[in-house]
Amino acid sequence: MQTVTTIAEVRAFAEEARAGGGAVGFVPTMGYLHEGHASLMAAARAECDRVVASVFVNPLQFGAGEDLGAYPRDIERDTALAAAAGVDLLFVPGAAEMYPGAVVTSVRVAEITDRFEGATRPGHFAGVATVVAKLFAIVGPCSAYFGEKDWQQVCVVRRMAADLSLPVRVVACPTSREPDGLARSSRNVYLTDDERSAAPVLRRALQAGADLVAAGVRDAARVEARVAEAVATEPLVVLDYVAAVSADTLAPLDPLVGEIRLLVAARVGRPRLLDNIGLTVPA
Ligand code: PAF
Repeated sequence: MQTVTTIAEVRAFAEEARAGGGAVGFVPTMGYLHEGHASLMAAARAECDRVVASVFVNPLQFGAGEDLGAYPRDIERDTALAAAAGVDLLFVPGAAEMYPGAVVTSVRVAEITDRFEGATRPGHFAGVATVVAKLFAIVGPCSAYFGEKDWQQVCVVRRMAADLSLPVRVVACPTSREPDGLARSSRNVYLTDDERSAAPVLRRALQAGADLVAAGVRDAARVEARVAEAVATEPLVVLDYVAAVSADTLAPLDPLVGEIRLLVAARVGRPRLLDNIGLTVPA
């Protein structure tokens, strides 16, 4: 595996791959890689001839007072994990390479960013959409791989790629979980031992909501109340929101039919943790 820091080097690599008829797969990350990222890299490896991954803690997607400065970093470990997962080229740009001047151009995806993470973190999704559009323009992948754990991010990136006619297939990969069900996240490192023990309640609560839907309940408010009640059994886990919504548009659904996503966010000590589950309810 080769590690590069400039846009020109990534372009040269990807252009050569494409010229030889190779399909380029891309995994954008903010580093501090874990098995979840490795599973995205493995999916890219299985489907593409060349795999490019990036490690860039994107300042544009952090709000004032968020953890940009403290965001965990370990580029040596990241390099080893990416190499072991079959990445061919690791792009690790500095902020000056990505944003050499003042950033006056931004990609904003409206509506699906109004609620949930978009409401809690103003400007976050414009930062994500802008850097992902830029990375797509640099790498020119035919497929790009994202984790379902950040479901709203998947929806935003898909919509951005569709609306801008970007020739990229956005692939959502199943959430990677610890054995006790906790969704893997770089921010789990912030949890104390007690918080870590409490955090898997999020997965159990989603499952309780899903069980209610499986039992025939079609009222979103009842399902959401069931999830909230399950989360409340762990005092260290403070619910931010729970929502049963349309999987694609994140719009409210009443009754719950079709492709549904049950979303949950909670503060567990320092970090806010996200999780979600997909359900298909035939009409
Ligand atoms: O999911 C992430 O790690 C980031 O939001 C992404 C997609 C790499 C953009 O910075």
